[in-house]
Amino acid sequence: MSYTVLVTGGCGFIGANFVRYLLTERPDWRVVNIDKLTYAGNQANLADLADHPAYSFVHGDICDEALVNNLFSRHNVHAVVHFAAESHVDRSITGPDAFIRTNINGTFILLEAARNYWLGQQRQTDASRFLHVSTDEVFGSLGPTGYFTEETPYDPRSPYSASKASSDHLVRAYFHTYGLPVLLTNCSNNYGPYQFPEKLIPLVLNNAQEGKTLPIYGDGQNVRDWLYVVDHCEAIVRVLEQGVLGGSYNIGGHNEKTNLDIVELLCDLLDKKIAPLPGNAPRRSLITFVRDRPGHDRRYAIDASKIERELGWRPKYTFEQGIEETIDWYLANRSWMAGVLNGSYQKYYESMYGARTEDKE
Ligand code: NAD
Ligand code: DAU
Repeated sequence: MSYTVLVTGGCGFIGANFVRYLLTERPDWRVVNIDKLTYAGNQANLADLADHPAYSFVHGDICDEALVNNLFSRHNVHAVVHFAAESHVDRSITGPDAFIRTNINGTFILLEAARNYWLGQQRQTDASRFLHVSTDEVFGSLGPTGYFTEETPYDPRSPYSASKASSDHLVRAYFHTYGLPVLLTNCSNNYGPYQFPEKLIPLVLNNAQEGKTLPIYGDGQNVRDWLYVVDHCEAIVRVLEQGVLGGSYNIGGHNEKTNLDIVELLCDLLDKKIAPLPGNAPRRSLITFVRDRPGHDRRYAIDASKIERELGWRPKYTFEQGIEETIDWYLANRSWMAGVLNGSYQKYYESMYGARTEDKE
């Protein structure tokens, strides 16, 4: 029987890239994707794979206990790769409820289902794995120097990161208490195809093409450590196949950049690739500093030496290669962006950015 991986949140940004990666790189595995299709989940992200013989899609909520339990036995799940989450920090500030529900309760329901099936029904094998995909935001905010290691104490500061930290603790507790075969990864900021345009890079790429303002929070000097999503997918498979049970692995791109540097770079690259703005104005002229995110973490930077030393993983893409591919993908997929912008996005954008811009003026 082929190895069956239950991917949660496979219609989101990283999940969709991961499903794609698995179906290509592990052709003898089966992939079952459960996704609630929230505003961030989009079946179009995997439309070309819908009829792939090794792929099944289940439209459902990870908080639905009966459904999740049933999936384990119906598909004889060997491994879980758990992406499903509410993932946007700004939304967690304006409406934390869904973050608590999905990120904490949803993870708990998945852990219980794995425990019931693998341990309760003696279906656990040496290859059973529960890989929880988490974030570097659980570690809090760095000053100008230093890096997050796997030993950095947790210090989450937004409802999003607190909910992710909580789920990380639950996952570790299931290892220590029940011997569930868990693995954790804590990754830095991803970028690449299929990212929802509430996040900095696709938001700026879209606005800059349309000649709209490019909102930068605060002074633009906050630092993120950027990783191309395909490198992240490769790292997850490495941890799934070779990670030490109960262990956690930091994943990062060795790519620290200020937000202002990122936005200026995107403007310059777009100026070279597409028609100029009216009056030949450089796209940098669209940059607008707006009210800061409350509790905005100043700097994230990952020490990824453990995964390199123990599992031999390093990112393959330089930032220059990754961002070039990303921009080309968004330019070639205007219809994908138009589809995503159709739903509730406009309302979200006006409420989030209208207030921010007015306050600053
Ligand atoms: P995303 O918001 O793009 O996608 C989330 C997916 O989960 C969507 O398809 C959504 O429909 C689905 N989902 C949400 N609630 C659900 C529920 N209750 N049941 C089933 N499906 C549900 O998120 P992303 O950026 O792809 O992030 C994926 C995971 O990786 C998250 O756990 C996030 O915390 C983590 N992570 C993200 C980044 C990043 O830079 N994007 C970095 C580190 C870690
Ligand atoms: O570090 C990993 C995390 O990266 C993940 O856990 C989260 O799921 C993911 O959303 C991402 O969180 P960030 O808050 O860092 O990503 P975001 O794209 O929202 O913002 C990146 C930086 O850009 C951040 O410092 C805030 C800033 N920003 C963001 C937006 C959307 C702006 O200045 N303007 C904007 O309009």
